[in-house]
Amino acid sequence: MSRFTTALGSSIGAKLVMALTGLALLGFVLAHMIGNLQVFAGPEKINAYAHTLQNLGPILWAMRIGLLTIFGLHVWTAFKLWTANKAARPVPYAVVVPSASTYASRTMIWSGFIVLAFIVYHLLHFTLGAVQGDIFQQTREAWTAADGKHPDVYAMIVRGFRSPAVALSYVVAQLLLGLHLSHGVSSVFQTLGFTSPRLACVKKAAGPLVATVIVIGNCSIPLAILLGLVGKGVN
Ligand code: HEM
Repeated sequence: MSRFTTALGSSIGAKLVMALTGLALLGFVLAHMIGNLQVFAGPEKINAYAHTLQNLGPILWAMRIGLLTIFGLHVWTAFKLWTANKAARPVPYAVVVPSASTYASRTMIWSGFIVLAFIVYHLLHFTLGAVQGDIFQQTREAWTAADGKHPDVYAMIVRGFRSPAVALSYVVAQLLLGLHLSHGVSSVFQTLGFTSPRLACVKKAAGPLVATVIVIGNCSIPLAILLGLVGKGVN
């Protein structure tokens, strides 16, 4: 085994993989949120953005494969660390004293699993059209752009989130994603060796701050649609 693969197999190496893949996934979540927030600027803006992405062709596929690989590494390494932890302590503590840890840190694996389930549901919903298939089909046919036929992503999002069950399921998923990120972002500092006491405040605040921005940004979309503030022109 090379030194590189030995390092990755160690617990420190695994934590480094978690930190770096986590940062890359956070970059995606932020960029995706900024793109989606264009729903507040009206159909032309968000549809033009969606079409630009769809027109990337092979570049889009390279980005998708890259994202999937990073995501797979993050989940696989988390699972490996979790099982190694369990094996090191086969009998759990009789009494858990949660003094040094936070609720978010103790529930990382479970919030992670729920975020994973959300992503599968989300892909079935907006990318594959297996959830709310009628809306998906309708909006795939609906919008013609100057460079060819493109789906009406704006109408798909609006019609999708008019269902209270769908909108609220997204809100709950964002809250759990926020819980996951609030611990994940702060622990990246630790893993990358930013342990100076001068950085303690930044380290503690960064996770909750990033999580709050993402929860508010992502929840604002389904909630604004559910409340009828966005999408008045869509029947
Ligand atoms: C309210 C929040 C969100 C909205 C409105 C939203 C909207 C969308 C839409 C409309 C698409 C399909 C784009 C198209 O086919 O043109 C999409 C794809 C996707 N979304 Fe989201 N999204 C949200 C949150 C998230 C979150 C939190 C994650 C990850 C944690 C995520 C991950 C993805 C992925 C991986 C894809 C597939 C991208 C691709 O096909 O290449 N989304 N989203």
